[in-house]
Amino acid sequence: MTKISGLKVLITGGSSGIGKATAKLLISQGAIVAITGRDKKKLEKVAQEIQAIPIHLDVSKYKSIDVKVLDAFHSMGGMDVLVNNAGIGVFGELSDVKIEHFETTYATNVFGVDINYSRSG
Ligand SMILES: NC(=O)c1ccc[n+]([C@@H]2O[C@H](COP(=O)([O-])OP(=O)(O)OC[C@H]3O[C@@H](n4cnc5c(N)ncnc54)[C@H](OP(=O)(O)O)[C@@H]3O)[C@@H](O)[C@H]2O)c1
Repeated sequence: MTKISGLKVLITGGSSGIGKATAKLLISQGAIVAITGRDKKKLEKVAQEIQAIPIHLDVSKYKSIDVKVLDAFHSMGGMDVLVNNAGIGVFGELSDVKIEHFETTYATNVFGVDINYSRSG
């Protein structure tokens, strides 16, 4: 079984929901955890609450991913695990869904989980 204590973990979207719960659990077991999110205020508040390292990052802005992942790497002194959790969903009537919803969802949930996109172009 993998020892969690001392593991360095980056969790995208760690400022709420599943990401926050995962961060809390890993921290309680001795892991060093960095969390990301778009809402800086919420991110910093949660990071303080659960003793995580806040990394302000919008994964849909793939050009900035490399730099922010490096920030997390340096802040933690390395990185053992990436939890690619950040994601969004659009709920409602199909007739209300706009092309922008698809664009944002794809940028976040598809391109935002692949660091290679941040290296292209
Ligand atoms: N909950 C479910 O039943 C369920 C089911 C299937 C799949 N999932 C997937 O599981 C993941 C977590 O779900 P959840 O329910 O815990 O979601 P959640 O409570 O809405 O939390 C999403 C987290 O991701 C962050 N986030 C969203 N867009 C981001 C972006 N572009 N860049 C960086 N951070 C971003 C949010 O913070 P900010 O808003 O501040 O950015 C928040 O911390 C998602 O990928 C979701 O699609 C969830």
